[in-house]
Amino acid sequence: MQLTRKIQRPFSKPSATPAQQDTRSRAQHLEDSTQQLGKNLLTALRKHGRGGIAESLYAQMLKLSTSDEKLKVELFRFVDVLPTLKTPEAVMQHLTEYLRQPGVKLPAGGGKLLNLAQKLPGGERLSERAVQFGVQTMSQRFIAGKNADEVTSKLLVLRRNNMAFTLDLLGEAVISESEALTYQQKYLDIITALTERARGWSPNVQIDRVTWEKPQTSEVLKTSEVCTIPRVNASVKLSSLYARFDPMAADATAEAVKARLRPILRLARERGAQIHIDMEQYDYRDITRRIFVEIINEPEFRDWADIGIVVQAYLRDSESDLQMLLTCAKARGTPFWIRLVKGAYWDYETMLAAQRDYESPVFAEKWQTDANYEHLTAFLIANYQHLRPAIASHNVRSVAHAQAIAQQLGVPKGAVEYQVLYGMGEAMGRALSAQGQRVRVYVPFGELLPGMAYLVRRLLENTSNDSFVKQVELDHKAAQALLAPPARRDASGMRLKNAPQTDAPPRDAPPARLYRNNPLLDFAKAGNQTQMQTALAQVQAHLGMRVPVVIGGEREAGEQLVARENPSNRSQTVCQVDYASMEQAQRAVALAERLLPVWREVSVRERADLLRRVAAEFERRRHEINAWMVLEVGKPWREADGDLAEAIDFCTYYADEMERLAQPRKRNVPGEWNDYAYDARGVAVVIAPWNFPLAILTGMTVAALVAGNPVVIKPAEQSSRVGYFLMEALEAAGLPKGVANFVPGEGETVGAALVADPRVAVINFTGSKAVGLHIMKEAADIKPGQREIKHVVAELGGKNAMIVDSDADLDEAVLGVLHSLIGFGGQKCSACSRVIVIGDNYDAFCARLKEAIHSVKIGPADDPATTLGPLVDAASQTRINRYIEIGEQEGRLFAAITPSAELTAQGHYVPAAVFTECAPHGRLCQEGIFGPGGAGVR
Ligand code: FAD
Ligand code: 2OP
Repeated sequence: MQLTRKIQRPFSKPSATPAQQDTRSRAQHLEDSTQQLGKNLLTALRKHGRGGIAESLYAQMLKLSTSDEKLKVELFRFVDVLPTLKTPEAVMQHLTEYLRQPGVKLPAGGGKLLNLAQKLPGGERLSERAVQFGVQTMSQRFIAGKNADEVTSKLLVLRRNNMAFTLDLLGEAVISESEALTYQQKYLDIITALTERARGWSPNVQIDRVTWEKPQTSEVLKTSEVCTIPRVNASVKLSSLYARFDPMAADATAEAVKARLRPILRLARERGAQIHIDMEQYDYRDITRRIFVEIINEPEFRDWADIGIVVQAYLRDSESDLQMLLTCAKARGTPFWIRLVKGAYWDYETMLAAQRDYESPVFAEKWQTDANYEHLTAFLIANYQHLRPAIASHNVRSVAHAQAIAQQLGVPKGAVEYQVLYGMGEAMGRALSAQGQRVRVYVPFGELLPGMAYLVRRLLENTSNDSFVKQVELDHKAAQALLAPPARRDASGMRLKNAPQTDAPPRDAPPARLYRNNPLLDFAKAGNQTQMQTALAQVQAHLGMRVPVVIGGEREAGEQLVARENPSNRSQTVCQVDYASMEQAQRAVALAERLLPVWREVSVRERADLLRRVAAEFERRRHEINAWMVLEVGKPWREADGDLAEAIDFCTYYADEMERLAQPRKRNVPGEWNDYAYDARGVAVVIAPWNFPLAILTGMTVAALVAGNPVVIKPAEQSSRVGYFLMEALEAAGLPKGVANFVPGEGETVGAALVADPRVAVINFTGSKAVGLHIMKEAADIKPGQREIKHVVAELGGKNAMIVDSDADLDEAVLGVLHSLIGFGGQKCSACSRVIVIGDNYDAFCARLKEAIHSVKIGPADDPATTLGPLVDAASQTRINRYIEIGEQEGRLFAAITPSAELTAQGHYVPAAVFTECAPHGRLCQEGIFGPGGAGVR
């Protein structure tokens, strides 16, 4: 071994084996073919390029928007909002506001032009016309028409140019079931109408026929089979078929979407059309794939090949996605189509992952996506007998590479389909079609408003510096650069050595910021769904546990044992709570007071680390605590996890802050030595609400503890079990016995005793305004023997309004209002309880909100498909039913969804009710209601 090493020359490569040499020469041959095919395509592309006034106007607009990143963002924001603006004044006002944002660099003379347009008589009307014309030009480039008639003429032109089509009905993520049903019906109508018309279309062998080679087996030699390709092809986004499309509620979503999709597939099959399922954002990837796989394996569709799905190469895990689909196709025995794309949501995914503090699902660098695309292309074409390949790209290099692979593997011409987007790839389509390839154009049609998201995606794509289309059309890059193999390169285009080819880069470096919030669980992931279901089942098995009083680390029985029922199902006793006696409350305060001198001397570092250990304990028990929150107070899954994440945040944030505040601060002046430092105040009493059962309780407790104050914790009656998790976590983290004591019980007795106790120095309270003010009064009353004036920190109720401005995106506005109205049954002071609609959006907003409310699903909190769970207890239920009566007297019931009789008999369910035309000074408009619904004033 030693000898071998010595005689080996240090940097010589071992000579390649014949197999390695063969692989290298195949790779070189593939690259040579790619270059040649790419050059041919580029030449043809330039020949088939567009011309005309609209085109040069479009090019000017792109140039303008790419001249400055900030200008681009503001311009696209303006384009997004434009369809909602009704008057020239509104258009001008918005244009000026967006373009005058700080940091926007207008092209030379731009600022003066804006001023002139505002001042000149008739200038606003003129500018509005110019803007509308510009945006219309852009939208007409990417959107083929408003309706089936307008679009059909475009389809016939495509067919005449030997290009097939797939139709996309604009619209995504609907907000009500009536919108979803309308969308489904439109697809049924368009399939019926077009298949009818298609009968009269002259055949086109290049796009309507394909020759597949049948698989070769040891006994049978290769044979060929000529097949018909459906003339009518439609692309469908599954999120448009169901208003409650939610990957967390995977089973319910899959069932509902399949029920809507089946009639579309059935009709398509009967009438000889093809359906392609689009892929949307990453959150929807797994559920979309699941629905696809399940439905194509149903007996009715199992032997149907005219269906397909999309794989996005910008996803780091797309290879396993494709492999899984191959396994599925083999098991099914009938091939289906795969449209291989890079992906349309890169900016969105990147931004969202950074916002949520998740690992980004997409590659960070463009060359990685390109390299992965080539890798997946090779995989797909090699398996074309099972997965019918559709290469969807406008990038000449990517397409030429696919052509080279197909040639190298001897795949029959036409077996690989090439796809382009309307308005982005016709030149490429025509060039490929002239070579005899089978080409399909993705043709979106519909109204601009629902199509805005699509249009903005195209604009973002076309103006990105990495975009191939921009590099050809605007930057006029040389062929060598355009056709270079994907690799990490420096600014001059030189390939950087040692760059991994397709490896994912390390997790993107977190942006520099002061504090990082605890990321929420991603319930789009099946793993998290399963863990939550498992935790719910485990907690269900332990219902009825006793929640004790804890003083000095000892568990004690209370003076009364009170059963807490599951708000979703009253027949279940979630836990039995030992309500502390007055004597226990006073004993807890006495012990805390005794420990003050000890705890305040513990170093800040130790106290802060203790909080961090509490956070770690919450993390360790995350699913279990979430499950208890769902069962004890009726929190929906996501909100329960939000509560837990906030509790963690309180621990880590206060730990950091205490360490910052504890830094020695000298305030010396000549002749004086002044040290500025914080010290504990004394015993802190924590009185918490049930609506954020862990977060608020934890925040108020650990703030006091980290500052050196011993505490007495009184959780809300309705959430004692969840509160007890805090006590357990403090103990697990090593808090000395007695520094925190736990005294569940009633506010009127135990709470009042704690507030009145003269040994208490701090009262941390969150709850109603009435109780908060009462506590302040009590605290101001100095008792005999009291050492200091009590310090009260009180966070009280509120009544929030949401304002829908005249330029609001109504999709967002309606969903935002609905979410805030019904999230945790509106039981938060931050819940939307009044909506103020400005301008002439009122009718449209109301109509859509009404439909959205009618699409709410009331049900138990443990069911992830529920959108409105029960209220916390019977008293809340009675109060909200009373407010509904008041609403009927003070205003007009505008929309309501009512729980079934069965649910009402089972738990604390109430209707979600919204009233309009309410008296502004009436009770509905003025009082904090804490229930699902609200009031509007016209
Ligand atoms: P290129 O310019 O080579 O690639 C641009 C793409 O690279 C971007 O779209 C993005 O995916 C990726 N990218 C950009 N910057 C970076 C970066 N910094 N790091 C990593 N990657 C980066 N997409 C879907 O998501 N779902 C669909 O259902 C869908 N259907 C399509 C149907 C057709 C017919 C076509 C042609 C495309 C479809 N797309 C779909 C893809 C998408 O809309 C884009 O058109 C496509 O990604 C552009 O890629 P390209 O190869 O044409 O251009
Ligand atoms: C999109 O809607 C083309 O499906 C792709 O952006």
